[in-house]
Amino acid sequence: MKNLPKDRISSEIARLQKPIAGRRVGSWFLFLLFLLAFLVIPVVASLRTPSSDVGATSQPGIHPPAGGAPATSAQNLVVPRVSPRWSVFGGADTYWNPGRLSTVHQPWAGDCKACHSTPFVRVQDNDCLVCHKNMHEHVSRATVTLDELHETRCASCHREHKGLFGLAEQNKGFVGHECASCHQTIRTLYPATRTGNVSDFADAHPAFRLQLATGAGPTALERIRQDGDVMLSEKNSLKFPHDVHLSAKGIRSPDGKVTLKCDSCHKPDSNGKNFLPVTMKDNCQYCHALKFDLAAPDRQVPHGPVDQVLSTLREFYSYVRVNGVAVTRQEMKNPIVMTRPGEAEPAKTFIHDNNDVRSHAIASATELFEKTSCVVCHDVSRVAGPGLSATPAQDMPQWKIAPVPAAHAWMPKAEFDHSRHRASRCTECHAAVSSHKATDVLMPTIKQCRACHAGEKPVVNKVTSDCGLCHGFHQPEFSAASALVQLHELKPVRDQ
Ligand code: HEC
Ligand code: HEC
Ligand code: HEC
Ligand code: HEC
Ligand code: HEC
Ligand code: HEC
Ligand code: HEC
Ligand code: HEC
Ligand code: HEC
Ligand code: HEC
Repeated sequence: MKNLPKDRISSEIARLQKPIAGRRVGSWFLFLLFLLAFLVIPVVASLRTPSSDVGATSQPGIHPPAGGAPATSAQNLVVPRVSPRWSVFGGADTYWNPGRLSTVHQPWAGDCKACHSTPFVRVQDNDCLVCHKNMHEHVSRATVTLDELHETRCASCHREHKGLFGLAEQNKGFVGHECASCHQTIRTLYPATRTGNVSDFADAHPAFRLQLATGAGPTALERIRQDGDVMLSEKNSLKFPHDVHLSAKGIRSPDGKVTLKCDSCHKPDSNGKNFLPVTMKDNCQYCHALKFDLAAPDRQVPHGPVDQVLSTLREFYSYVRVNGVAVTRQEMKNPIVMTRPGEAEPAKTFIHDNNDVRSHAIASATELFEKTSCVVCHDVSRVAGPGLSATPAQDMPQWKIAPVPAAHAWMPKAEFDHSRHRASRCTECHAAVSSHKATDVLMPTIKQCRACHAGEKPVVNKVTSDCGLCHGFHQPEFSAASALVQLHELKPVRDQ
C-alpha cells in the first residue's frame, strides 16, 4: 500500500464509494442472478403450480409409495395426483428443500405444494389432512376441552425433511418434548383428569393404572392404579391356583407326574405379541376330565351350558336302562383327577337297581356339579325352577355357573409386545409361581420396566425410552379428525 501512488488510492476509494458502478458491478450482477434463480423463479414457479388434485386416486401412473399403504390406514388415505409442473421453471421451488423427505412422502418430493399449500406459511394441519383423512384423535374432544389440544400441530410432532426412513419410526425419537408440553402439567391444565403428570419415564411417570375386571361382562372394567408392591386383585369367578400347577415337584396327570411350564397353557398368538386365551378344552381337560360314571369310563359330559350337561346325564341313564346295557364296575384306567385336596374319593357309579332313571341322573349331576368337577373350577350354585323346556333336562334340579370374565387388555393406553421381551423369563415380570388365586393380578409394576428402560436420557445398559416407544398418539377409539378440520376452519392456527 505504501508503494502505491497517492492518486490511485484516492481514485480507488472514490470508485468504491459510488453506489452501483465500478468494481461492484460484478457483485451486483451475481447477486441479481442468484436472486432470480433461487427466489424469483422459485416463487413464480410455486405460484404458477396448481395445487395437488386431491381425490384422484384412480389416476393411472400415480402410485402410493413402494410397499403400498398398510391396510389399517389405507381407507383413511387419499392419494392425490402429483401436480403437473409449470414447464419452463418446473420444480424450481425444490431448491429450498431443507432435507430429504421420508420414504412415504417421496412421491411428492417434487411437489412442495402438496404440504406447503401457501408459500412462506408453516405447514398447516389441513395440508396433512388433505391426504390423511379421519386421523384418530388423541382424546375425545366431546369430553375433553383443552385449548392446547386445538393448538397442537401435526408438524410439531411429525417433522419432515429428516431423511428417508419411516416417519412414524423417526417420530418415536423426538415426540417426548411434545408430549410433555401437555403432560408435564396436565393436572393444572386439565383439573378434571385422573391422569398423573408425566415428563420422563425414568423418574417422572406415574405408577400404572391397570384395567381390571369388576364383573363378567365385556364392559365391567375399571382402571386401578398399582400401589407400590401390593398385589392388586380383580373379580374372577374362575378358580385357578398357579402355584399348585407350577409346583417344582410336578403335578399328577393321567400319564403320571408332569412338570408344567408357562407355555403348557400360554401359547403365543400369531404375531407373538400376546397369548391365546386359556381354555378348558385345550389346557385343563386332559387332566380334569369331565367323566361322570364308573360304568362309562370313557364318556364325558360336554363342557358348557348347564342344560347340555344335564341333558347328557338324563339321556345316558335312560339309555342304559332302556337298552339293558351291561354295567362294568372295573377300575377306571384314568380315574377322574379328584381335585379337592384330601377328597380323592374313588370313582363310583350311580346306576342302581331301582328303575327311577331320573334319580340316577340327579345323583350323578349333584356329584359332578357340587363335588368332583364343575365346583373345582367354578362358582356353582343351585337355583330354583324348571330346566330349559323341551330338553331332557327340564325335570332335573338346576345349577348355575357364575360367568367367567372375558380376556381383556390390561394396559390399554400403552403398547407392550412379548415378542420383543423373549430374552426375559416370564417370571421376571409375572409372579405366577407363588400365586394361589385367579383373582391375583400378576402384572408387572413400573419398577420392573425401569430395571431395563431408562427415560429420554441414555443410561448404560438400559433401553433409552421416549414416550413414543410405549405410547401412540392417535387413539383408535377417538375418531373425530373431521372435527379438527372444522376447528381449524373456525380458529386459525396460532403462531403461524
Ligand atoms: C409431506 C409433506 C411435505 C412436503 C411434500 C414438503 N415439505 Fe417442507 N416441511 C414439511 C414439514 C412437516 C415441515 C416442518 C414444518 C414446521 O415445523 O412447522 C417442513 C419444513 C420445511 C421448511 C422449513 C425448514 C425448517 O427446518 O423448518 C422448508 C424450507 C421446506 N419445508 C421446504 C420444502 C420444499 C422446498 C419442498 C419441496 C421439495 C417441501 N418442503 C416439501 C412437510 C413437507
Ligand atoms: C403429539 C404428537 C403428535 C401429533 C400432534 C400428531 N401425531 Fe401423528 N403420530 C404420533 C405418533 C407418536 C405416532 C406413531 C405411533 C402411533 O400412533 O401408533 C403417529 C402416527 C401417525 C401416522 C401413522 C400411523 C397411523 O396412526 O395411521 C400418521 C399418518 C399420522 N400420525 C398423521 C398425523 C396427522 C395428520 C396429524 C395432525 C392432524 C398428527 N399425526 C398429529 C404423534 C403425533
Ligand atoms: C399428498 C398426500 C400426502 C400429504 C399431503 C401428506 N401425506 Fe403423509 N403419507 C402419505 C402417504 C401416501 C403415506 C404412506 C401410506 C401410509 O403410511 O398410510 C403417508 C404416510 C405418513 C405417515 C406414516 C409414516 C410411516 O412411517 O408409517 C405419517 C406419520 C405421515 N404421513 C404424516 C404426514 C404429515 C404430518 C403430513 C403433513 C405435514 C402429511 N403426512 C402429509 C401421503 C401424504
Ligand atoms: C395438547 C395436549 C396434549 C399433548 C400434546 C399430548 N397429550 Fe396425551 N392427553 C392429553 C389429554 C387432555 C388427555 C386426556 C386425559 C383424560 O382423559 O383425563 C391425554 C391422555 C393421554 C393418555 C391416557 C391417559 C389416561 O390415563 O387415560 C396417554 C397415555 C397420553 N395422553 C400420552 C401422550 C403421548 C405419548 C403424547 C405425545 C405423543 C401425548 N399424550 C401428547 C393431552 C395431550
Ligand atoms: C395349567 C395352566 C397354566 C399354566 C401352566 C400357567 N398358567 Fe397363567 N393362567 C392360567 C389361567 C387359567 C389363567 C386365567 C385365570 C387367572 O387369572 O389366573 C392364567 C392367567 C395368567 C396371567 C394373567 C392373569 C393375571 O391376573 O395377571 C398371567 C400373567 C399368567 N397367567 C402368567 C403365567 C406364567 C408366567 C406362567 C408360568 C410361570 C403361567 N401363567 C403358567 C393357566 C396357566
Ligand atoms: C397336568 C394335569 C393338570 C392340568 C393340565 C391342570 N390341572 Fe388343575 N389340578 C391338577 C391336579 C393333579 C390337581 C390336584 C392338586 C392337589 O390337590 O395337590 C389340580 C387342582 C386344581 C384345582 C384345585 C386346587 C385346590 O387347591 O383346590 C383347580 C381349581 C384346578 N386344578 C384348575 C385347573 C384349571 C382351570 C386348569 C386349566 C387351565 C387346570 N387345572 C389344568 C392337574 C392338572
Ligand atoms: C378344570 C377346570 C374346569 C372344570 C372342572 C370345569 N370348567 Fe367350565 N370353564 C373352565 C374354564 C378355564 C373356562 C373358561 C374358558 C373356556 O371357556 O374354556 C370355563 C368356562 C365355562 C363356561 C362358560 C362361562 C362363561 O361365562 O363364558 C361354562 C358354562 C362352564 N365352564 C361350565 C362348566 C360346567 C357345567 C362344568 C362341570 C360339568 C365345568 N364348567 C367344569 C374350567 C373348568
Ligand atoms: C418384560 C415383562 C414381561 C415379560 C418378560 C413377560 N410378560 Fe407377560 N405381560 C407383560 C405385560 C406388561 C402384560 C400386559 C399386556 C397388555 O395387556 O397389554 C402381560 C400380559 C400377559 C398375559 C395376559 C394376556 C391376556 O391376554 O390377558 C399373559 C398370559 C402373560 N403375559 C404371560 C406371559 C408369559 C407366559 C411370559 C413368558 C413367555 C411372559 N408373559 C413374559 C409383561 C411381561
Ligand atoms: C429385562 C429387560 C426389560 C424389561 C424388564 C422390560 N423391557 Fe421393554 N424392552 C427391553 C429391550 C431390550 C427392548 C428393545 C427390544 C427391541 O428393540 O427389539 C425393549 C423394548 C420395549 C418396547 C418397544 C418394542 C417395540 O415394538 O419396538 C416397549 C413398548 C417396551 N419394551 C415396554 C416395556 C414395558 C411396558 C415394560 C414393563 C412392563 C418393559 N418393557 C420391561 C427390555 C426390557
Ligand atoms: C417403557 C414404556 C413407557 C414409556 C417410555 C412411557 N410410558 Fe407412559 N405408560 C406406560 C404404561 C405401561 C402405562 C400404563 C398404561 C395403562 O395403564 O393403560 C403408562 C401410562 C401413561 C399415562 C397415564 C398415566 C396415569 O396417570 O394413569 C400417561 C399420561 C403416559 N403414560 C404418558 C407418557 C409420556 C408423556 C411419556 C414420555 C415422557 C411416557 N408415558 C413414557 C409405559 C411407558
